[in-house]
Amino acid sequence: MRLISVAIDGPVGAGKSTIARAAAERMNFIYCDTGALYRAVGLFCHRNGVDMHDPSEIAMSLGNIKLEIRLINGVQRIFMNSEDVSEEIRLPKISMAASAVSPVPEVRAALLGLQRDIAETHSVIMDGRDIGTVVLPNADVKIFLTAKPEIRAKRRYDELVAKGSDVTFEEVLDDLNKRDYNDSHRGTAPLKQAADAVRADTSELDFEQSVELVCNIIKERM
Ligand code: DC
Repeated sequence: MRLISVAIDGPVGAGKSTIARAAAERMNFIYCDTGALYRAVGLFCHRNGVDMHDPSEIAMSLGNIKLEIRLINGVQRIFMNSEDVSEEIRLPKISMAASAVSPVPEVRAALLGLQRDIAETHSVIMDGRDIGTVVLPNADVKIFLTAKPEIRAKRRYDELVAKGSDVTFEEVLDDLNKRDYNDSHRGTAPLKQAADAVRADTSELDFEQSVELVCNIIKERM
């Protein structure tokens, strides 16, 4: 059977991971969240006191990190030096660490093979920032998933509050704007829509409608 690859890119809080995960389940593809890899590198640097303003220190630490993506009952888990860090990488301080390590070219190069291997062995929906532009430039389907910043911040804020966090909406919006800026202004693989990607704006859509939109785009292009 021919393998299909779907690249979904977009800014933070566009709902990429939840929408992509649900779409993958419906289409019977595996789902790969590439942000988890950058988060795991960020976690390692954070734990080991690496200076986040020093790209060469970040690059040097790569030699001590072995990352693996394992599929457990079809769900992606991320292992760092054999430890399952899938939960810890979601902490807000690790979001900032991931954003700090992700512009470093050596980090991006080190993670490229892992991501491409998955698409070579599975039909996959892969989400990130540079999947359609760098990781899988020949993906069968490319989608740029986005929404207005205030709406993305509100969704993220609701999620964090539901988990018991006492952040304010302004803090979340500020963090999101900073991460958007970092992601789209870095020199290596900045967040940008691939020329051949379909733009999908979910500002006015609920979750179900967003999943349907993504599945329809995939079916049309397959
Ligand atoms: O999608 P996320 O919030 O889990 O991503 C964490 C960080 O990693 C974010 O700052 C952007 C970066 N990232 C990236 O540079 N390239 C990717 N393909 C995925 C994530």
